[in-house]
Amino acid sequence: MGTLDRQSLRRYSKTLAFEMISVGTVLLWLLAGVVCTTLIILTGFTIYLYYLHAKYDHLPGPKRDGFFKGNMALVHENRNKRGVTVHQIWAELGQKYSPLFVFWFYHRPVVMITDDQAVKEVLITKKLPRDTFGYSHFSSLFGERMLGCGLLSEVSDEEWQWKRTTLDPAFHRPTLLGMIDSFSTICDSFLERLQTLADGKTEVSMAQELVRINLDMVAKIAYDLDLNATNDPQSPIPTNARIALEGLIQSFRKPFMRFQPSTFGYQAKCREAVRFLRGVAKGVLEKRQEEKNKGDDERNDILSHILKLSERDSRTTIDDMVDHFITFVVGGEETESNHLAYLLTGILSNPEVEERLEAEIDEVLGSRVFVTSEDLNKLKYLDQVIKEALRLHPPQPAITRMTNEVITLGSLHIPAKTSVMVDAYVLHHNTKYWDEPEKFDPDRFAPSNQHKVAHYAYIPFSLGRHTCIGRRFAELETKILIARLLQRFKLKLFPGHDLKEVEHMTLRPKKGVQCTLTLR
Ligand code: HEM
Repeated sequence: MGTLDRQSLRRYSKTLAFEMISVGTVLLWLLAGVVCTTLIILTGFTIYLYYLHAKYDHLPGPKRDGFFKGNMALVHENRNKRGVTVHQIWAELGQKYSPLFVFWFYHRPVVMITDDQAVKEVLITKKLPRDTFGYSHFSSLFGERMLGCGLLSEVSDEEWQWKRTTLDPAFHRPTLLGMIDSFSTICDSFLERLQTLADGKTEVSMAQELVRINLDMVAKIAYDLDLNATNDPQSPIPTNARIALEGLIQSFRKPFMRFQPSTFGYQAKCREAVRFLRGVAKGVLEKRQEEKNKGDDERNDILSHILKLSERDSRTTIDDMVDHFITFVVGGEETESNHLAYLLTGILSNPEVEERLEAEIDEVLGSRVFVTSEDLNKLKYLDQVIKEALRLHPPQPAITRMTNEVITLGSLHIPAKTSVMVDAYVLHHNTKYWDEPEKFDPDRFAPSNQHKVAHYAYIPFSLGRHTCIGRRFAELETKILIARLLQRFKLKLFPGHDLKEVEHMTLRPKKGVQCTLTLR
């Protein structure tokens, strides 16, 4: 028994040793396989990168900080040391290189345009298509359909074209002017709320107030929807809109966030917010469609134009229409509220501008609370101030396009399949086009100075085919809101105010706009 046991034990140990050697060998082979594959990929990537560098080395630009890092060290260093945004860094490079320079986002070259005539070529003459890399990002948020194939995220030129043509009339001037009364009514509730805070002592975050009123404006004017975000910021639609928008900004800034387990909870919250908003949009669209079918709907707002998409192409689903609904909320919300915040800060930190503006508003409106389209035409200095705020702080500065074939700008050849970026901040801060570009000077846009403005170097709403569809909407809202606000209140910036920009998806003032208010 003892001998047998010893024999079987020996046999068993041999088998175990053999199996361990086999497992060890397999693991070794696996490791060797992984190492070889990594080496092959790395070698392949290195050769590809040599080839890419050679392909773009004939173009001007800052020296790469490293073979793999491209120019990103320059960005990180300047952000950390000087607290500047990437747009400010590009603006500084734009002073040095003309008409363009190449900037390496690690291994990805992007041609940055710094000259007004090159802007014209890219956006208008050559009508370069969108760079799908950036724009398709907005289509979904952490896997949940968000802007889907709305105008901002539609990457098929053909699809975008017919949608844009169908939706364009919703933003024509006469259509929007017909809604002046609605703009004014929402303004009333905003001013009433501010009046409760106007004791000259309470610190009011005007940036936050502007976000809410802006959401109310878009919902009412575009969809005839009463959100009441101004008076009830905790109500579910504004709350979920904010979560979804913030999520979109975060996912844009941190593309790898999706894979970080520590953020899974946050991602689920964002997805839920998107589902909620899309559900609301669907309900509103279906209700309006029913009213339309019964012949009970005479409205000519943005929603009625969204419904026209399904008449024009019967393949349009309710989800496609929801994409547009959400796109206009997102497109209008972030950019317009940041613009209003910058505009207000620009006015309040320049007393002589504020005085002139108050005098103009008093002369045109007096104590009248309703605003007409004639009044708006007469508020000329306000126009100048708005233009200057958009120049100094373009809320959505970066526009990207793609070359389908080799193109020539100046004497430089840009290879096919290159990302080309036109950055409004870079052009708006270039001394070639603007004297003292950092100065807030609305008189640059005075009628007597109009001839000095380089048309293609002033692009807050972009130019060409993809020019902002909501431009007139934004202009109307801004004028009515600022005129009524300054007519009723004297605002003072809180001491220590800082105009510094912070990059999100768009540019926004870092410290909000903290003010005290008194009645005028
Ligand atoms: C001051 C406010 C605004 C600024 C500075 C602004 C800026 C811009 C810019 C620069 C673009 C071009 C993007 C590109 O080509 O990559 C754009 C496109 C767009 N904007 Fe605005 N925007 C503003 C307000 C609005 C508003 C109020 C709405 C909607 C109600 C809106 C909706 C859109 C949409 C849907 C597009 C895509 C247009 C297309 O490609 O057909 N924007 N905007």
